[in-house]
Amino acid sequence: MTIAYAVERVGAEEAFDLLTRSGYFEGITLKVDAADVGQAFDGSNLVVTARHDGLLVGVVRALTDFSRHCFVASVAVDPNCQGQGVGRQLISRTHEAAGGAHRIVLFVHSAPWATVFYEKLGMVREPNSFSLNNVD
Ligand SMILES: CC(C)(COP(=O)(O)OP(=O)(O)OC[C@H]1O[C@@H](n2cnc3c(N)ncnc32)[C@H](O)[C@@H]1OP(=O)(O)O)[C@@H](O)C(=O)NCCC(=O)NCCS
Repeated sequence: MTIAYAVERVGAEEAFDLLTRSGYFEGITLKVDAADVGQAFDGSNLVVTARHDGLLVGVVRALTDFSRHCFVASVAVDPNCQGQGVGRQLISRTHEAAGGAHRIVLFVHSAPWATVFYEKLGMVREPNSFSLNNVD
């Protein structure tokens, strides 16, 4: 399967469709619609995509200062393309686009079912990370 990767902006409907297809929203009780997803993508300054025959099959949405830090906010791969290295490529290309592994610290808050994925990429659990999360 030929996958084309790019740094590009992605529309609300296309992003929402992929996130839904991927299973990204499973286990999330908060109601999220395409407008919410569009707002999140518009507010993020680095989006890396994977496309097969033009169809969006993978995406990383991240916020970075292009200097020291990159916060990965969403990762999703189409179920038909999962387990083929697309997620790994997307994270690697995001890291590169933000400034590279020798300069940029990459952060992610993992869903419970995705922790092994990040471990496989060489990411480590941080004992000193904090969040303030009163979101319903
Ligand atoms: C998590 C996700 C992004 C992984 O993408 P992917 O393209 O399937 O991942 P890759 O094929 O690049 O996998 C890289 C490695 O991680 C492993 N891996 C991927 N997902 C895994 C999972 N859920 N559990 C255990 N291992 C996993 C792969 O087996 C592979 O291991 P290998 O290097 O030993 O072969 C994808 O499964 C997905 O979109 N899931 C639904 C949305 C989601 O949960 N997003 C993350 C929210 S934090």
